[in-house]
Formats: sequence, C-alpha cells, structure tokens
Amino acid sequence: MFYDLAYSSWGQEELDAIQSVIAGGRFTMGENVAAFEKEFAAYFGMRHGVMVNSGSSANLIAVASLFYKSDRPLHRGDEAIVPAISWSTTYHPLQQYGLKLRFVDVDLETLNLDTRKLERALTPQTRMIVAVSILGNPAALDVISDFAARHGLYLLEDNCESMDAELNGRKTGTFGILNTFSFFFSHHISTMEGGMVLTNEEELDHLLRSIRAHGWTRDLPPGSPLYERRGSDFFEAYRFILPGYNVRPMEMAGAVGRQQLKKLPAMTAQRRRNQQLFQNLFAGDDRFLLQRENGQSSSFSFTIVLNPRHAIDREKVFAALREADIGFRMITGGCFLCHDAIRYFDYDVVDGAAPNAELAHHRGFFVGNCPADLTPQVHRLREVLDCACR
Ligand SMILES: Cc1ncc(COP(=O)(O)O)c(C=O)c1O
Repeated sequence: MFYDLAYSSWGQEELDAIQSVIAGGRFTMGENVAAFEKEFAAYFGMRHGVMVNSGSSANLIAVASLFYKSDRPLHRGDEAIVPAISWSTTYHPLQQYGLKLRFVDVDLETLNLDTRKLERALTPQTRMIVAVSILGNPAALDVISDFAARHGLYLLEDNCESMDAELNGRKTGTFGILNTFSFFFSHHISTMEGGMVLTNEEELDHLLRSIRAHGWTRDLPPGSPLYERRGSDFFEAYRFILPGYNVRPMEMAGAVGRQQLKKLPAMTAQRRRNQQLFQNLFAGDDRFLLQRENGQSSSFSFTIVLNPRHAIDREKVFAALREADIGFRMITGGCFLCHDAIRYFDYDVVDGAAPNAELAHHRGFFVGNCPADLTPQVHRLREVLDCACR
C-alpha cells in the first residue's frame, strides 16, 4: 500500500529477543515480563507496572481492582464519567461491573473530553472518571485530575493510544490512580498483543496481580496484606482470593517490549516530525478541522474532520483516498453512543447529546503515522484531499 494505516516498528533486536525466549523454553509470563514491568514503570516514573495480554485487559483488571480495594471500593450502581469518543473496551469493563456511565461530549478541537461540562456531569453517585487522550493528544489531564481530587473520584487514565505524550512536562499515563497502555500492532510500541497497568498504590498492584492470574495468591509478594498464609503448602499453592481472570502476557511479548521501550523516545520524535509536516501542509485550510495539540502529542495518527460548513461529500473523499491507495479509518472507535452495544449500557448523556462526537463520527477519519519518514505520503495526501474537496 502506498500509505498504510500502520507499519511494523520491529527490527532485528525484536526478532533476536523472541529467539532467545524460544531458546530458553519458557513461553508464558516469566523473567522478561517481570523486567519489562520494572523498566516500563521506571520510564514513566511510576512505582508498579502489571503487564497483561492487551490494553483491553489492562482496562478490565484496572476497573476490577477498584471493586476490591479495602478502602472506599466501588459498588454496582456507582457512576463513572466518560468521554463520548474512545475505544469500545474503555467502556465495556465499566458496564460489566455494573457502573452507570455519564457520557460527556468532546471538544471538537482536541477530540478529548470537554472539561467545561464536567461540573454538570457530577451527581451524588459519581465515584469515578475515565480520562482518555485521543490518538496521542493529551486530554486536559491537569483539569480532570484536579476535578477528580476535589470530588474524591477515582481517576482511571486510559492511555492506550497516547504513550509518551506529555502535558506540562508530565507523561500521560501517570495522572490516574490507575493508568492503562496498549502494545497492539499499530501503537507507539508493539508487542503484537500486550498491555500494562501503572499505579503508585501497592494494594492496587497486588490486586491487579491476583486478578490478572486466576484470582490466586501465587504472584503476590510474600507478606502481601491481601491475605494471610495458612499452614499447608498443598492448599496455599492453589489459593483463590478474588474473582479473577487469566489475562497473563506471553514471555515473548515481554522480551519484545523491552527492546521496543529502548527505541520509544526516537520513535516518538519521528512521529512528531511527521506530524509537524502534516500540520504545516493542512493548517489554515478551513475545509479540514485538525486536532489541536494540547501539551505535547505523541501523534498516533493524523485526524481530519470535514468541516460541515463546506459542502464536502464524505463518500467522494473516501473514494479518492481509496483510489490513491491511502489507508484511512474512523477516529478511534467513533462516538460510542452511535454503536449498537450502547443498548446494553445503563447511561445518560450530559446536556442530552454529544454533537461534537457525532460530527467526528460521521465526518471524521484518520490516516496513519509511524516512526518512519512519511514525507512523500503526507504530500500526496494533501494533493488528493485538496482535489477531492474542491
Ligand atoms: C483508548 C483505547 N483503549 C483501549 C484499547 C484496547 O487496546 P488493545 O487493542 O490492546 O486491547 C485501545 C485500542 O486501540 C484504545 O485505543
């Protein structure tokens, strides 16, 4: 494809890492995963990292852990504030754990939660807020974390598509009590499938480790306050204390993640150079609404919303992109309220509607970014869109 949505960021180092795991003969979660967890947490200046098999699983165990905290656990029927645009599995664990969702529209410029609506999203039942930075662009995490602190809400940061972005010199994925990451193919680092939860709280770290693997005690450090050891090793070997899952990562994913993490700063820098070119070529053209950078984006991709004030035919644009062999797709998962799955949710929408998210759903799309020079691709994109939107 001339300009694809995603490209592999692996080199010989990743292939060698896989080979060394194969040679070692241990394929499930082992020393590479443990080392990657430490290295990844250290990169973000966080105390604990718990690796899982996907970003979706990271969200699942993060939400689950809040239901088993000793102090102020969540309960079914509690409310969570969420942005109207995100990926499906930002929302699904919230539904599965019986939370009611309060959807807040996005700011059309940043595509992130419109914080001017936050106070209206609050009810006596609100216990949690989920912050999502869309496609590398930091959400207003300073405002959101301040709001969460003022109202005693748990802040879960779903940072699955914005690794290595920064706001006021602080990395996204460090603002929440729990922070999740994805290492899926197209993401800032890739282990094929993979994810991570970061937290500074020891109890949450222990809960996450137990919930990740069967709800058992085996992966907890000695003396964990989550349970008291009894005498018999026979029973202690299979001691189940929580309703958990098996969402453990493969050892190969841990080994690859360690190699990818070393390359992350250089990869982010290249993504940002591509983004600068995209901005230079498209900024100021009123036909295209671009994502306004808040802080420092790690630029997952380039978003465009076709300005409704111009009579641009979306299908004609899509046909021109196909013809030019340029990949494109919906912005993240679009507006979640437009999806069939919403019928299974207990929810409402702050101010009754989310028109910006719907506009981005119907007239928005993104094209890919990656850690390689995309100069010819982005220039061609500009020509194709300019022609299709005349
Ligand atoms: C915001 C967000 N959350 C969660 C996920 C799920 O991550 P994964 O594909 O690793 O399950 C994604 C995936 O892209 C995402 O964009």
